[in-house]
Amino acid sequence: MKAFIFDLDGVIVSTDKFHYLAWKKMADEEGIYFDEKINDRLRGVSRMASLDIVLERAERSYTSEEKQNLAERKNEYYKAFLESLTASDRLPYVTETLSALREKGYKLAIGSSSKNTPIILKKIGYENYFDAISDGNNITRSKPDPEVFLKAAEFLDEEPQNCFVVEDAEAGIDAALGGGFKSVGLGPASKYCKTEIKLKRFSDLLNL
Ligand code: BG6
Ligand code: MG
Repeated sequence: MKAFIFDLDGVIVSTDKFHYLAWKKMADEEGIYFDEKINDRLRGVSRMASLDIVLERAERSYTSEEKQNLAERKNEYYKAFLESLTASDRLPYVTETLSALREKGYKLAIGSSSKNTPIILKKIGYENYFDAISDGNNITRSKPDPEVFLKAAEFLDEEPQNCFVVEDAEAGIDAALGGGFKSVGLGPASKYCKTEIKLKRFSDLLNL
């Protein structure tokens, strides 16, 4: 294996709680029921596809213009939460494990559905750290489509079968498998039946 491609939210940094709070605020204002269980279905899913899931519980239908406005409103709330992010929001063991993987000679990339990836990486001090970044700004199809990871592999100049994809979301594991990558699951993805390598801690990556 030559490279690791990491999902960002929920793998490198704990932004998932901010996504939840931002969707919750928007849903409460609209009188739409929303809870943590529904929020789990949004992991790895693009902003507009996430909105469609949130609106499943709405009592009326929304026009595409209204949907655009709701997504923008949620993103404004989310970005306000991101303001407080610092390097201390990197998830446990991330800093030392990434350094050790790099020392072992692996290439390291990000493969995230988020259009906020550049802001987040800057906030946590990883602006210039990764060898390649593929995110919501360079794809047309979101996870579970493999596009974001295929682009990351292309940017790294590596074949998918030589790359691990590290994910916390079922949609991300499906994307990895669909693209011919070796799938590694943490958190919720470590309990998913399709995940090939299930890990407890980020530092377990050093034992692969
Ligand atoms: C993924 C998150 O990384 O990015 C999803 O897991 C989120 O929950 C998606 O919806 C899109 O993020 P953004 O920042 O473009 O709204
Ligand atoms: Mg994630």
